[in-house]
Amino acid sequence: MYNTLLTTLKDGIFTITINRPEKLNALNKEVMSELNSVLDEVADNNEIQSVIITGSGSKAFVAGADISEFKGLSIAEGKAIAKVGQDTFFRIENSRKPIIACVNGFALGGGCELAMSCHFRIATDNAKFGQPEINLGIIPGYGGTQRLVQLIGKGRAMEMIMTGSMIDASTALSYGLVNKVASQELLMETAIDILNTINSKAASALSATIQAVNSFGNNGYEKETEAFGNCFNTPEMIEGVSAFLEKRKPKFKNISTKI
Ligand code: COA
Repeated sequence: MYNTLLTTLKDGIFTITINRPEKLNALNKEVMSELNSVLDEVADNNEIQSVIITGSGSKAFVAGADISEFKGLSIAEGKAIAKVGQDTFFRIENSRKPIIACVNGFALGGGCELAMSCHFRIATDNAKFGQPEINLGIIPGYGGTQRLVQLIGKGRAMEMIMTGSMIDASTALSYGLVNKVASQELLMETAIDILNTINSKAASALSATIQAVNSFGNNGYEKETEAFGNCFNTPEMIEGVSAFLEKRKPKFKNISTKI
């Protein structure tokens, strides 16, 4: 169905694998276009509860935007590429369904930016993160200058972007760029464990969580009020509150219209 992506769906967890291992899964135009198509599938397929994005092979998650497509581009074309990257990654960030990155190797440039657009990240112990665009005479353009600051703070973001140096998985963990580090063998199992917990919750409340948290710094308290209110009287909220009062575990059927 896709040329550059592999997808599987098991127990509500949809795994998207970027599959150009011979080019370290670099994001060319076709990958970006197929990412947009697969995001439509994520939104439309009711069987999909949550998503993992990872890279093919054991060496790279994604080693960046495809540099071979940069040569000879004009200022306007450079801006257009950034717009496509930013719009695609906004769609990931604002997906109503949880999307996590399983970073299985190099996450450089657009790869680091892709991982940062996901709701959170786990990584293998051989993962390496970096924004090496400075070595090409450019800067991150798919949201990296903004999301890296939010995730690790201004000073560390400035250092990573200005030096172009990579950080290893344990540094990424200490910076808060990743939530967990696992061995290569245990990466997917670790992600699936977390997503099984998340998938047992109310989908409407998960969507409300994403909307409210993503509004940090942009009328976040108002958005929180709205998203909190929207949860009330949904079938999931009625079940959750009833289950607590009846001293039983909630069983969410996730039939609400979308929040
Ligand atoms: N765009 C296009 N091709 C890329 C790529 C990218 N971002 N990253 C890697 N590749 C290609 C290489 O050109 C090479 O292709 P080839 O075999 O046809 O020559 C292949 O992937 C393997 O990469 P290689 O450089 O041989 O592997 P390595 O182990 O020596 O080095 C990296 C790995 C990640 C350090 C190195 O590939 C690299 O620096 N990549 C670019 C990272 C970057 O600057 N990203 C930001 C882009 S804006």
